[in-house]
Order: sequence, then structure tokens, then C-alpha cells
Amino acid sequence: MDSSNTNKLKEEDSTYPVWHPYTQMKTAGPPLEILRGEGAWLMAKDGRRILDLISSWWVNLHGHAHPDIASRIADQAAKLEQVIFAGFTHSPAIELARALCEILPGKPEKIFYSENGSTAVEVGLKMAFQYWYNIGKPRKKILAFRSAYHGDTFGAMSVSSRSVFTQPFFQQLFEVVFLPDPTEEQLELSINLIDEASEDIAAFIYEPLVMGAAGMIAYSPAYLSALMQRVQSHQGLLIADEVMTGFGRLGTMFASEQMPIHPDMICLSKGLTGGFLPMGVTSARKKVYEAFHQDDRMKTFFHGHSYTANPLACTAALASLDCFKKENTLSRILQIELRHQAFVASLKAYDCVVSKRVKGSLLAITLTDGITREAQYLSDLGPVAYKWFMSRGLLLRPLGNVIYLLPPYCIKSSELDIAYEHIQEFLEILEKGDLEIFSVDPVFG
Ligand SMILES: Cc1ncc(COP(=O)(O)O)c(C=O)c1O
Repeated sequence: MDSSNTNKLKEEDSTYPVWHPYTQMKTAGPPLEILRGEGAWLMAKDGRRILDLISSWWVNLHGHAHPDIASRIADQAAKLEQVIFAGFTHSPAIELARALCEILPGKPEKIFYSENGSTAVEVGLKMAFQYWYNIGKPRKKILAFRSAYHGDTFGAMSVSSRSVFTQPFFQQLFEVVFLPDPTEEQLELSINLIDEASEDIAAFIYEPLVMGAAGMIAYSPAYLSALMQRVQSHQGLLIADEVMTGFGRLGTMFASEQMPIHPDMICLSKGLTGGFLPMGVTSARKKVYEAFHQDDRMKTFFHGHSYTANPLACTAALASLDCFKKENTLSRILQIELRHQAFVASLKAYDCVVSKRVKGSLLAITLTDGITREAQYLSDLGPVAYKWFMSRGLLLRPLGNVIYLLPPYCIKSSELDIAYEHIQEFLEILEKGDLEIFSVDPVFG
């Protein structure tokens, strides 16, 4: 690259040479440098304070730089920062696995650690395929919802929507039986698809009750349990992807608690460590584990990551679980839910609002941009709304034309009020069609 091009790049991005995720680097403005976080707030280098209303990509639970979690990590770092997890173990990993097995729906037998949400899903898919291989009845098919999002690695992309996220890789993705989205309520068609795949169903993977990246789409437990039951009638395994919904987001510790049937595997990440450190978990019930627990070495689960069960991450997760008890977090979430409901009820009818939903700490509003009434990630409204809220000190990162709040649970009533007032103001502007505010200068790609 010649020096003029290099200089141009440096102008575009003050953090050159960093390449940011989900960002069209050419059109995105320079990223905001954050120095510190406290509670629901992020403090930027330029002096601005930003209210983090999306828990920094759905990871933070109890507030930024929570002192209890930070000090527990520091203590652990001074004792043991990392050790190979094959042939070795440590007490944070054992304690955390024990704690998770106690609280996870369906009382799983084992906890398998990995490094993020996508790898938690990869592990779930690999375990499912190998379960069938190990018991000598190989099965090929995975079922998933058509607009699902399960992560960015190849297995996770395969079971995710064929969308803008996955388009360049269509040829490389494995085939999946896609069921109509649960909001379409096409039970008969879905049941037929399940029955067609019948003896070949390795597993059904789903985001229970809310499909996150698809646009915070909420759907009914009764519908999901009908599908789960049908999959079970063909002995297919059930994998709940609770990477987003886990740790209280939807009002209960895990969304699967709201279901009458429990999954065979549960994928966790994001809030697992309170948002402090990257870690993934895939739980397995006895039936799954037993297929691997054999004398034959070929039946080993040959999967592992260098940082599997990192002691600092396990300690952060244990500290976060302690916060749930000490800070009465589930009742805080209920208070947030009640505030969201009151806000939604107080909103007048706007033509620009297609639908609104509240579930636990989640509040989501689907807007129309004049072109679509469906959730569309590439709607121009997304970058415009993002920029509008950011210029007022609020971090809301819409999923296209869906704006939502998924705040840290420490958020105060007065801070929620700030968010609600601004959302209302934004809806008024949108309703009036005051489009001059919508400059085509997206902050993100
Ligand atoms: C439901 C779900 N599964 C998996 C993932 C992937 O997690 P990660 O970004 O940690 O790889 C996400 C991320 O948003 C998610 O929402």
C-alpha cells in the first residue's frame, strides 16, 4: 500500500490498524474511545458519558467494572491465571460447573467449557452429531428456525439464517432443515417438516422465546413446546441456545425455565461472566454424556480450546452468580420489566410503530422505515437511529428497524426515564417525517 493510502486509512480510523467487527470500515466514522465504565455508564476519552442501554452487545449484567467481580478476578489472577484443561483442573471450574448444573433447567450432568457463544453452539452441534455416531446410528439433519442467529463460526452460521451475514459463505455451509419462524405460527407445516426428517434428525437448535439478532422477535412457549415434543417423538436432541436469553434477560434465570420440556443441551455465553471475560458453556444431560463415556477412545469428544475453563473467566462467572443473590437481581429485573410495560402502555399510537414487546429486561419496538414493516437488519433506519441516540449520549444499537433496550440490571429508574424520553422524542420525529435529521452518514456498517 502506498503512503497516501495509508494516511487516508489513518484519517478514517484513529485506532488504525484495528479492524472492527460488524463494521464497514470505509463508511463508519471513527470509533469512540472508552476509558472507563461504571454502573450503566461508559466514560469516553472526549469527556462524553454514554448510557449503555444494550449491555455492550448483551454481555454486561450487574454494571460496568462491578467492584466485587473485578476484585475476585484480580485475586484469582494473583493465584492462577490459566492452566491446560486436559489432564488438569482447578476449583473455579469445578465450582462453576456444580453451580450451573444446579440452576440449569433439566439438571444437566456435565458442563463443557469453551470460549464464546459461537463456540458454545459449535460444541452443541458437534456433540449432537457425535452422539448419534457414538451410539452407532449416525443422523445427518439439524433443524433450526429460518431467521435464527447462532453465531459466526461455520457450524453456527450453517444453522443460522441464510441472510446478509452468511451470504458470502452459502456454498460452504452445511444443509439444514429450516422451519418457518415461530411468529408465523405455521405449526402444521413445521410438524410436517419435522416428520419428513424424522429418523434423520440429529438435533433441533433454537433460541428459546426470543430470537435476538433476528430483531428481538418474541414468540409463545406453547408453540415452541409443540415443536420440541415433535422432535422428541423422533428421538431428536434439543439444543437451547441461551447465549442471549440466559442469566435473567427474559425475567427468569434461563428462558428454558418457562418451558414445560427441558433441552438436552444448553449453550451459554455473554452474561455468563457478568460481561467481564469471554467464555462459553455447553451443558449436556446424562443421556448425551453417556454416549461419550466409553472405553473406546474413538468415542472421545475431540474438541477443546486453548483457554478452555480459563480460571479468571470461571471466577468472574462465580462472582456474577453471587451478585444475583446479594443484589436480588431477579427482582431488579422484574422492576425493569414493570417500568418497560408502563412505558409501552403510555405510548400513544404511532403510525411508524409496527409492534412493541416487553419480556423481562427486554423492550423492543419494530418501526417502519416506509419500505418495510418486517424486521430488516439493513434498513437505513438502523444507522440513523444509532447516530441520533448516540448524539444524545445513549447507546442503542438498533437491529435495522428494530430499536430495543436490554440494559444492565443495575440501571436506575431515573436512567430508564432518560431512555424512554428519548425514544418517545425519536418516535415523534419519525412520525412527523422530519427526515432532514436522517443524513446518510452511517456510523456503523
Ligand atoms: C443467540 C446467540 N447465539 C450465539 C451468539 C454468538 O455469540 P458470540 O458473539 O459470543 O460468538 C449470539 C451472539 O449474538 C447469539 O445472540
